[in-house]
Amino acid sequence: MNRTLTVLIAAILALAACSRAPETGNIPHSPKVDSLMKVMTLDEKIGQLVLFTSDWSVTGPSMRQGYLDDIRNGRCGNLLNAYTSDFTREVQRIAVEETRLGIPILFGYDVIHGFRTIFPINLGMSCNWDMAAIQESARIAAEEASAAGLHWTYSPMCDICVEPRWGRVSEGAGEDPYLGSLISAAMTKGYQGDDLAADNTIAACVKHFAAYGAPQAGRDYNTVDMSERWFREFYLPPYKSAVDAGAVSVMASFNELDGVPAHANAHLMQEILRDEWGFGGFVVSDYTGILEMIAHGYAKDLKDASRLSINAGLDMDMMSSGYMDYLKELVESGEVSMKTLDQAVRRVLDVKAALGLFDDPYRYCDTQREKERTLTAENKAFAREFSARSMVLLKNDGVLPLKKGVKTAVIGALASSKDDLLGSWRGAGEVESVPASILDAIKEVTPVIYAEGCKEIGDDRSGFDAALAAARSADQVVLVIGEDCQWSGEAASRSSINVPGVQTELLEKLAASGKKVAVVLMNGRPLDLSKESEIASAILEAWFPGTMGGYAVADVLFGDVNPSGKLSITFPRNLGQVPIYHYAKNTGRPYVHVGTKYESRYLDVENEPLYAFGHGLSYTSFDYSDIRLSADKFAGNGSITASVTITNTGAVDGTETVQLYIRDLVGSVTRPVKQLKGFEQVSLKPGESREVSFTITPEMLSFYRQDMSWGPESGDFHLFIGGASDDVQKAEFSYEI
Ligand code: BGC
Repeated sequence: MNRTLTVLIAAILALAACSRAPETGNIPHSPKVDSLMKVMTLDEKIGQLVLFTSDWSVTGPSMRQGYLDDIRNGRCGNLLNAYTSDFTREVQRIAVEETRLGIPILFGYDVIHGFRTIFPINLGMSCNWDMAAIQESARIAAEEASAAGLHWTYSPMCDICVEPRWGRVSEGAGEDPYLGSLISAAMTKGYQGDDLAADNTIAACVKHFAAYGAPQAGRDYNTVDMSERWFREFYLPPYKSAVDAGAVSVMASFNELDGVPAHANAHLMQEILRDEWGFGGFVVSDYTGILEMIAHGYAKDLKDASRLSINAGLDMDMMSSGYMDYLKELVESGEVSMKTLDQAVRRVLDVKAALGLFDDPYRYCDTQREKERTLTAENKAFAREFSARSMVLLKNDGVLPLKKGVKTAVIGALASSKDDLLGSWRGAGEVESVPASILDAIKEVTPVIYAEGCKEIGDDRSGFDAALAAARSADQVVLVIGEDCQWSGEAASRSSINVPGVQTELLEKLAASGKKVAVVLMNGRPLDLSKESEIASAILEAWFPGTMGGYAVADVLFGDVNPSGKLSITFPRNLGQVPIYHYAKNTGRPYVHVGTKYESRYLDVENEPLYAFGHGLSYTSFDYSDIRLSADKFAGNGSITASVTITNTGAVDGTETVQLYIRDLVGSVTRPVKQLKGFEQVSLKPGESREVSFTITPEMLSFYRQDMSWGPESGDFHLFIGGASDDVQKAEFSYEI
């Protein structure tokens, strides 16, 4: 940087620092940025709106070489997929020392369920229902990522999903907007902490805005269409909750909504995000999302797409090169106003300022810290317990927990795989950091005979005999089956949700040999387990459980951890029931088993799912008392209390997630038959009881009424409390507005 200019900028920044920073939405508006913008050229401004990949991690098509030159020329102000303190320090040096204004680079990365220490996939962790633990997992991820030079994660993924065919259901928090909202806020707080400028926090990015989780037929990137009412009630809340929790960036989604691609959707990016929610951060495109509007049939070329995007409120271009190549012309021709451009630049620079990058661009590049903070014993210990507590015991006829010291047959290719434990989007997690496969971990507690049996894909049955022999020779049998870890995640939709290959056939053979089989599942979506649930003696849903997942599975199988996970998504009986979720409407012809033909039902399968939302067993049992209401009616801004007493009636300590659901019987628009409105986790010793109370408020009864206003209506309500959406006690009350 030229010396006179450096002195000039330093003087402007010092002056600016003395004035009080006004707030813009949830980002402090940096006076330093105002000053900087006064001296930026149009090209320099545009450079701040450009984001390229280093291609270290490949998260989309390779589009462009030479990003270092782009940075050096001030044409690219942000980089994704590059990390390590050494590498980011060198790239940062180029930006700071070799460009005219020395504006620091923002380094982004997909830190999705951990950075180096990998936690269970997000769908798995959402079954934990423990917000403090989920927040802690994000805090650890931020600690590790920030120590590797990163400033910004593309998480939390807030896409509600009732579509198990969609591979990215694995990246979200399941089907429920209330649970999803708590989780998106917890993750945002975990990443960003109290001070974005601290060297161990990173900026969150709320994605994919919006409704990406509802692609038609579950095919990735496919069309999304739904009513505004449904969208606002069931899909929007988790995004808003993350924004309310202070997330400083939002990523547009690949899909269209109501015919308009999200990347040029002013209703989403301007009206909802900024005007209604007061979001003050910046919106980034998804990978080549601007360019893709040509294929959508919404823009005639990249210039057109770039114009549409920035004018609709999209600030930063990831990988399309449209802003880099065309924004200058568009501003000069007046098709994009200088005001629009400046606003976008300011939003990006405000986030850089909030991260402290103008104070110290190398704040996050400390090799010593990177060594000390990564994959620590504490992080791994946390991951092990977090993972165990995210597993869901779907079925158990008493075979679990297994006995230690007893000869155990472990069967299945997935049992010996360390790689699959990490899931499809493992960030910078490496298989070398995984200390034990499930097989290794079981070997540490009991004598084992292992047989692969079959792979998770393909029709090779040649290992069946050895597996049967192993089972015959053992006293207890564990079969690990499921999906290859690359079968879920982005661009990994399936048209079937069966357990793949010949794994179920192997289970059938093992069970037919007279052995009780405990199945451990590794998968990234709800599967059709109708056969497996009949044959297996127990099913433990372990998801892709992360770096410490091998040990975590063994901890649960052998009873060192009593499982407490509860499903955050419904498991259907078959694909024909999809979409199936707990907040369904009653319809005009509900299936009430009166025996007439004309009811809302299937001829060939029940209406009920195989495993309902909220379901999850324990090695102990819990008894629920009847519900006690403090009153059976309330009005205005009042409230009532609903209480139950929970007793641990089994022989071991256990944790139960007590769930509250509500039904509004008559509304100006129809209401779900059950909707999650609260939950509380209680840990009880054998014989111990605890009262759990919920305060029922008008907010809990609120919805988008016929005129689209948000609020409650007078009338009668049902209230349900229990350990799963299909296992509840019921009470009734009324409310007067
Ligand atoms: C994904 C995003 C991700 C981005 C950057 C895209 O393909 O849809 O979720 O954050 O790539 O890696």
